[in-house]
Amino acid sequence: MIILYGVSSLKVVLRIGGSVIASPPNPRLMNEYVEIIRRLLNEKNQVVVVVGGGKPAREFIQLAREMGLEEREQDEVAISASRIIAQLMAMKLGGYGWKDIPKSLSDAVAALRGRGIAVMGGLNPGMTTDAVAALIASEIDADLIIKATNQDGVYTKDPERYADAEKIDEITFEGLSNLLERDKHVAGIHQIIDPEAVRILKRMRVRMLVVNGFNPQNVIAALRGEKIGTIIK
Ligand code: UTP
Repeated sequence: MIILYGVSSLKVVLRIGGSVIASPPNPRLMNEYVEIIRRLLNEKNQVVVVVGGGKPAREFIQLAREMGLEEREQDEVAISASRIIAQLMAMKLGGYGWKDIPKSLSDAVAALRGRGIAVMGGLNPGMTTDAVAALIASEIDADLIIKATNQDGVYTKDPERYADAEKIDEITFEGLSNLLERDKHVAGIHQIIDPEAVRILKRMRVRMLVVNGFNPQNVIAALRGEKIGTIIK
C-alpha cells in the first residue's frame, strides 16, 4: 500500500524528466514507468503524468534555431516532441484509444475525471514541463508533485559542475528560489527545477519530492515516506 504521512488515496502529479526517459528515448525505462503508474492507479490514486521531450526536443530546438526560426517556434517543436513521448506512454497504458494527448489544462482535467489519469507533455511556448506540472497541480489541487529527474535530488550547486555541491534533504520554496541561478526562460533550458514552477508551487503550497528517476522504484519509495531525494515544501 502507498502511504504518505498516513494518506492512501492521493492526487499525484508525476513529472518524469525527458533527461531520464528520453535522452535518448529508453523503452525499458518508459515501460517501467508505465508499470509504476498502473500500480498507483490500482491503489486508487489519481495521477497526472507530465513528461518532457529530452534529447529529441533539444535536437528539434537546435534544428529550428539553425533554420532561423524564432524562440517560440523552437519551443513549439520541443512541445511536439514531449507529446510524442507522452503519446507512447499513454498508448502503452491504455491502448490506441488513449492516443490523444491533452493540449490544455482543461483537456487534462477532463482526462483525469474520465479515467483517473492524464498523460501529457508540454503546453505553451515560454515554459518548461516543470511549469506545466505546477500548473496542473494547482488546477487539480494535487497532494504532491513527484519529480523524477537525472540527479539524486536538489543540490546546493549544480553537482555536474561543482565537486563540493551538497545534496539537500529538505528545503522551502523560498530557499529554493534563492538557489536557482537563472530566472529567465530560454528554449531547452535545464535546471533542477524551473523557477517559474517554483513560483507557482510557492503560491499554491503544493509540496514536491525530487528523486532520481533512473530507478522508477524511487517513486514508490518516496510515496512510502522513505528518506530519499529532496522534499520541497
Ligand atoms: P523540458 O525542459 O520541460 O523537458 O522541456 P525535459 O526534457 O523533461 O527536461 P529535463 O529532463 O527537466 O531537463 C524542453 C523544452 O521544451 C520547451 C522549452 O523550450 C523547454 O526548455 N517547452 C516545454 C515549452 O516551450 N513549453 C512547454 O510547455 C514545455
